Amino acid sequence: MKTKWCALWCTLLLFATGLRAQDPSRFFKAADLNMVGAYYYPEHWDPSQWDRDLRKMSEMGFEITHFAEFAWAQLEPEEGRYDFEWLDQAVATAAKYGIKVILCTSTATPPVWLTRAHPEILILREDGTRWDHGARQHPSYSSTFYREYSMKMIEALAKRYGNDRRVIGWQLDNEPKVDQDFNDDAQERFRTWLRKRYGTIDALNKAWGTAFWSQIYGSFDQINIPRGTQLFMNNHQRLDHRRFCAEETATFLDEQARTLRKYISPQQFITTNYIPSYDDGHLNQSKELDFCSYTRYMVYGENYGIGRKGYRVGPVERIAMANDFFRPFNGTYGVMELQPGQVNWGPLNSQPLPGAVRMYLWHVFSGGSKFTVTYRFRQPLYGTELYHYGIIGPDGVTPSPGGLEFQQYISELKQLREAYDARHAEVPADYEARRTAILFNHENSWSIALGQQTTEWNTEGHILKYYSALKSFGAPVDFISEDKDFNAYKVMIAPAYQQVDDALIAKWKAYVEQGGHLVLTCRTGHKDRQGQLFEMKFGGKIFELMGGQIDFFDLLQPSTPDQIVFGGKEYDWVSWGEILSPDAGTETWATYKGDFYEGRPAVLHHKLGKGTVTYVGVDSKEGAFEKAVLQKLYGELRIPVLDLPAGVTIEHRDGFGVALNYSDKPYTVDIPSSAKVLIGTPELQTAGVVVWKD
Ligand code: GAL
Repeated sequence: MKTKWCALWCTLLLFATGLRAQDPSRFFKAADLNMVGAYYYPEHWDPSQWDRDLRKMSEMGFEITHFAEFAWAQLEPEEGRYDFEWLDQAVATAAKYGIKVILCTSTATPPVWLTRAHPEILILREDGTRWDHGARQHPSYSSTFYREYSMKMIEALAKRYGNDRRVIGWQLDNEPKVDQDFNDDAQERFRTWLRKRYGTIDALNKAWGTAFWSQIYGSFDQINIPRGTQLFMNNHQRLDHRRFCAEETATFLDEQARTLRKYISPQQFITTNYIPSYDDGHLNQSKELDFCSYTRYMVYGENYGIGRKGYRVGPVERIAMANDFFRPFNGTYGVMELQPGQVNWGPLNSQPLPGAVRMYLWHVFSGGSKFTVTYRFRQPLYGTELYHYGIIGPDGVTPSPGGLEFQQYISELKQLREAYDARHAEVPADYEARRTAILFNHENSWSIALGQQTTEWNTEGHILKYYSALKSFGAPVDFISEDKDFNAYKVMIAPAYQQVDDALIAKWKAYVEQGGHLVLTCRTGHKDRQGQLFEMKFGGKIFELMGGQIDFFDLLQPSTPDQIVFGGKEYDWVSWGEILSPDAGTETWATYKGDFYEGRPAVLHHKLGKGTVTYVGVDSKEGAFEKAVLQKLYGELRIPVLDLPAGVTIEHRDGFGVALNYSDKPYTVDIPSSAKVLIGTPELQTAGVVVWKD
């Protein structure tokens, strides 16, 4: 009997694993386009209100809710004693109103019985202080105890709800990330990680360049977590520590996912809600997630967005880039938290502009998201997040302005579902022809941050100059990693790709020789993966690709910018300029003006095999220069591009076109006469939206 069960169990496991490898879009019906949800915390409200609240949620059109985040104390009030009755009741109430449930694993808030019994599970800071009970995200991902207790609780949850059809998926932890933890377990795990990475202490000494300043180690046991505040700490060690922290996050999530997967049905998805932060290696290292989700808040401070009141709208790239960053991992993504209105945690929490919340929803939609959930349904009456708007205000019954905008979006979405036609769901050919890849590896951002050379450099800002230019072209953009197929893209930009190896250089070369058009920008190829320079001319690894050489680089004082001359125009720069020498046959597209290297090349372009390489050796102040370079390149490649003003964006998905206006001026969208406008009109005011059937 036992063997029979085991066989059945193994078959089921295989089935589950096999299915996981399949296209994650299978968790969603294509015709649903996008599902909308709201977080609800039953444990914050009197049970007599749950029915009313979930009914209201359903009446407003929400199809998903999200339970059990931060509820470990309620789920396991004493060690090993689980209380699921309240959650059973909440799930049943949601189901009564046709609302599907995403469950959270609650690991961000260990109960006090656990932290008092094992204070060593709390994060230990560099200054020797330990985080304490009374907040959230205070446990150490490296703590063996914490991981053990977490998995026990997750196992109990999985057994209870893993085959419950009312539960559609799981969100692990909350905005997971560890960047500082000096616990003994973290220390030990870091040493173990290094042993695995290097094998011998000699290899580590070489990789960390410990001959410098007498840093040589005799054994792995002598190595400590690098002190962030100590001056001149070894940068190669710090780079490895960042890698280790990212991996701690990833393995913690993977362990959770594997624990869940032992019990849950293959119909339930597993994801987590990352904060989109592009220098953050935590984002894409988990191997076990079915797909990624992200959280996004747009209005929480000053000086964001376009124009005097741009802070009420926020910058267009915040959602655009998050869509284009998470979707390419495997084609499917969701948004777990989208701002419903005013928040409480920014330095200055203004009201969003009326209409902005609806525009964010359409923006998320336009990127291809499968669902959009908001934090949270009801505004809290106690706790740390007072003043944080919900879909419903503090009285528990009145929708907030953002709540009404969610309701409007949901009803508009239903119109779209009616117009959806699976046979005509492809994106327009001219849009597809502009598709561009941005090659991205967070290790470059880390490595640059460890040796910026100038206060004026900003890695994300540098990438953004290219990204924003592409968005103004109306180009679909995929942020991709090195393991992806480069040949799927006619143009690929690798901005400030500081760390390279021979395999990457060979892959770039093959891509270009086979007809790809590669844009490399300053700071690319200077270092190896360990952050060391190559023993050759500066940047020598990429000379063949660039069709020239880097003679030296310069950094200017911010008060006295110089100019780049390109296409008869001048553009200011200060942060980073490489002075180049072209090989015979290489074109010089731009030159420097204003200093001892006036007239020397700043941008090179040449043919290689069937493709081209454009090397942009300088970072401009404002980004108009980067846009102009790309305009010239796309012109030469005969890829027709748009010229949308900053803040206006156009995307296509599932047979629909979506245009949005984050700028402070009206804009009229040129919609083809063959298209049928479904939502809004082509004349877009600030926060305006127009949606059409392609
Ligand atoms: C997010 C977090 C949520 C909630 C929200 C408030 O960063 O994941 O739990 O705190 O902020 O805006």
